[in-house]
Amino acid sequence: MQKTTLITGGAGYIGSHTALSLIDAGHHVVVLDNLCNSCHESIERLEHLTHTRIEFVEGDIRDTPLLEAIFSHYDIEAVVHFAGLKSVANSVCQPLDYYANNVVGTLNLCQIMARFNVFNLVFSSSATVYGDPPKTPIVEDCGTGTPASPYGRSKLMVEQLLTDLALSEPRWSIALLRYFNPIGAHESGLIGEDPNGKPNNLLPCLTQVAIGRIPQLTVFGNDYPTFDGTCVRDYIHVVDLAEGHLKALQVLREDHGIHIWNLGTGIGYSVLQIIRSFEDVTGITIPYQVAPRRAGDIAQCWADASKAQRDLGWCARRNLAQMILDSWRWQSSNPFGYRHQAELLTAIAR
Ligand code: NAD
Ligand code: UFG
Repeated sequence: MQKTTLITGGAGYIGSHTALSLIDAGHHVVVLDNLCNSCHESIERLEHLTHTRIEFVEGDIRDTPLLEAIFSHYDIEAVVHFAGLKSVANSVCQPLDYYANNVVGTLNLCQIMARFNVFNLVFSSSATVYGDPPKTPIVEDCGTGTPASPYGRSKLMVEQLLTDLALSEPRWSIALLRYFNPIGAHESGLIGEDPNGKPNNLLPCLTQVAIGRIPQLTVFGNDYPTFDGTCVRDYIHVVDLAEGHLKALQVLREDHGIHIWNLGTGIGYSVLQIIRSFEDVTGITIPYQVAPRRAGDIAQCWADASKAQRDLGWCARRNLAQMILDSWRWQSSNPFGYRHQAELLTAIAR
């Protein structure tokens, strides 16, 4: 049987880009996704890009019999685990959904992995586990903080769960990848970020303003203690992020235990810098208004990514102009994401 990498959440934004990187590097993959925040079209586009048939299972990471069937059918050697809910705002209204999906889902996945003697796991964590960092750039060993939302706390709980697991059994090789702010899309413009309903993150909001789906951008706060008063973040190209997963999988084969790596560029940009850069790259003027601060936002956050460079031989290679160009290519070639306009209007009318 062929050695296989299971990608949970592989139909989603980061998962689909990572599936592409893994397949391009010669991995055989199977994707498990319940499509709660994605659609099958992303898998079809991956098939087009890779000229292969993607093994896709529609289902939930909490469905134990389904996971047992997948682990029995394939010779799984590693799991790259993206599946989970990710909206900070929704997590405040529906905390139980977030803990059930993100924490219980991961627990279930790990139980099945252990039962089938699969011990290599790459987990999608987040810079949100640092809370409001005492200093920037953030190094991995500065300690975790207090995340501002149930979403962030679910990520921290999973990190703790996985750390305990790795300490309990030396065969586990686990990577906690702390992503900073993923943006951009594959250069083909065929796969990208397709948020359900109203987007929350800056880049999807910005590109939807540019395409005319949103009348103007809201800038949350211009009175932060930063050089121009707006929040500073470390934006990273999703393809660079995907390549980080590939490197982590290679290192996990040899290095057991728990490993934590920041995946960021090490450069922070303010909200106003992002707007200006978008205007420069695309030639489109972005109307915006300044509103009060958004609850839970921190002033600034960017990575020290030197540990990933040292251990994984990885660093982000794509600059901000490239990230914005690729985000815009995706949005302008797919104004309504993966869905067609008619389908979207029917969904809204329901
Ligand atoms: P996404 O929503 O596009 O992808 C997640 C995928 O998981 C979706 O396709 C969804 O349908 C699927 N899914 C959700 N719950 C599931 C379940 N119980 N069983 C099976 N499939 C399920 O999100 P993304 O931006 O690609 O994020 C991927 C991971 O990275 C998430 O865990 C997210 O929390 C984490 N992360 C994302 C960001 C970001 O800004 N995008 C930042 C830090 C961490
Ligand atoms: N912002 C605006 N207007 C918008 C949207 C965002 O001004 O319409 C601002 C936010 O206030 C923030 C910055 O743009 O200052 C970035 O906001 P995002 O929502 O794009 O990203 P966050 O930094 O809040 O959070 C993201 C992910 C989290 C992840 C975190 C890791 O949403 O899941 O990055 O750093 F945990």
